[in-house]
Amino acid sequence: MAFGSLREGAEGSNCTRICANCEQIPHFWYPSPSLMTQRTPIIGGNWKMNTGLESGMNLAGCVVDMVNTIESCEVVVYPPFPFLQAIESVIDSSRVSLGAQNIWHEESGAFTGEVSGLMLKEVGVTSVLIGHSERRHIFGESNDVISKKVAVGIQEGLQVVLCIGETLEEREAGDTLKVVLSQLEAGLSNVEASQMVKVVIAYEPVWAIGTGKTATPEDAQKVHSAIRSSIDEMYNSEIAQQTRIQYGGSVKPENATDLFACKDIDGALVGGASLSADSFTAIVMAARNS
Ligand code: 13P
Repeated sequence: MAFGSLREGAEGSNCTRICANCEQIPHFWYPSPSLMTQRTPIIGGNWKMNTGLESGMNLAGCVVDMVNTIESCEVVVYPPFPFLQAIESVIDSSRVSLGAQNIWHEESGAFTGEVSGLMLKEVGVTSVLIGHSERRHIFGESNDVISKKVAVGIQEGLQVVLCIGETLEEREAGDTLKVVLSQLEAGLSNVEASQMVKVVIAYEPVWAIGTGKTATPEDAQKVHSAIRSSIDEMYNSEIAQQTRIQYGGSVKPENATDLFACKDIDGALVGGASLSADSFTAIVMAARNS
């Protein structure tokens, strides 16, 4: 089915909840099934510091209603810390997993304002974002701290989504691959081959985050391919082929299908568009295996 064609009475149309950010529509727009490889695509909704408790629960409920019958695509939502437990109660027993936006690399102690992996697991978190560009650039997280967080996240049995990406300045200086691959290498420096099954990479060019500018599929594919080659060099080709690499940065239903058609793009980490169940579900639909 071509992108933008209308299908009546499909899974996406049966959400009856009222979301603050989600327009309730009687029909749903279904993009084409993706042309991705055998790797199960993974779509994450990074809510960042958005939603309230009630609107977040409604959003999560709508997402569950709309994506629960979609197979062959992993779906994770990353709500703000205070809402994790409430969102868990909404998505419990569904196909949607619970993720956290951050973690600290110690188990407990005098680390005011921080949250450990043990704490996250206790409230049902199974996935964690590490090294998001907002953590790196607003909160000054270094590659060293990020690599410790990656190691701890894995030790705790969490799925770790290691976020990497270059700034506009770095891109314009021609340093995209140098920056991205050095972040990759540093982030994985404490990860053994056998642990790579717990790792997802999210390539998020900083200049594309929240700006409405997306890397072209060709540009994104070049970086994803370089990331995969680098994983091959660091580990082996089997691990490189099995590791999922998400793209992030202004992903929307309108550009998702073209991005997911690229052979090394295995899903998306979605910010703004994950705050609407309609647009988030459309992106999930674009990623499902045909
Ligand atoms: P946007 O989709 O709003 O550009 O955010 C991307 C992002 O930072 C996801 O982690």
